[in-house]
Amino acid sequence: MTGQGLFITLEGGEGVGKSTAAAGLAEALRAEGQQVLLTREPGGTKGAEAIRALLLNQELPLDPLAQTMLHFAARMDHVNRVIRPALARGVIVICDRFHDSTMAYQAYGQGVPQADIRTLIQLTGLKPDLTFLLELSEDEAKSRITARASGTDRYEAMDAAFFARVREGFAAIAQAAPERFAVINASPAPAAVVASMRQALRERAGR
Ligand SMILES: Nc1ncnc2c1ncn2[C@@H]1O[C@H](COP(=O)(O)OP(=O)(O)O)[C@@H](O)[C@H]1O
Ligand SMILES: [Mg+2]
Repeated sequence: MTGQGLFITLEGGEGVGKSTAAAGLAEALRAEGQQVLLTREPGGTKGAEAIRALLLNQELPLDPLAQTMLHFAARMDHVNRVIRPALARGVIVICDRFHDSTMAYQAYGQGVPQADIRTLIQLTGLKPDLTFLLELSEDEAKSRITARASGTDRYEAMDAAFFARVREGFAAIAQAAPERFAVINASPAPAAVVASMRQALRERAGR
């Protein structure tokens, strides 16, 4: 465990319901009287949100390794200035995406060497206590994205083959670290998804 706090991350492809589930879990834990920080990546600080705007702007072509390094530049600021201090105060930090997304999107999706990303993960030096991988069929995710109806960003604009590689990447990453991952069926209604996460948190982290 990290300090007195607990570091929880949510991972999965576009439109599986990560942001909805992260907000729901934060609300459930707060209702129990727990101190929670809900945050997201890329982002979570002013500087990192500015880097996010660069990263998601599909009108700015960026080399995949450059994208990787920008993700980690944003992450480093977020980890050192927000996440670590919160954990040290005993807060439960819930982060919508973290380094597994960089491995899935940039290594599996865009072909950046996994070893390079592992090096950057080590440099960041913070490992989640528990990671929820939200799983949903491609068709369901697609219809949720359509219903959400916001503009598309750099990654949402990628093709089906890219998303298949990302999906395969997340599954492989979770399989290789079963002690850290809880795989969640994201198909039921939001309240049910939150309930299975809440139960897994109790079972896996005793909180
Ligand atoms: N469990 C759920 N059942 C039905 N719709 C959902 C569920 N979770 C999220 N949604 C809806 O699907 C869309 C995508 O959810 P969102 O949380 O933004 O996904 P993500 O953050 O993974 O991209 C949103 O419009 C959201 O309201
Ligand atoms: Mg989201």
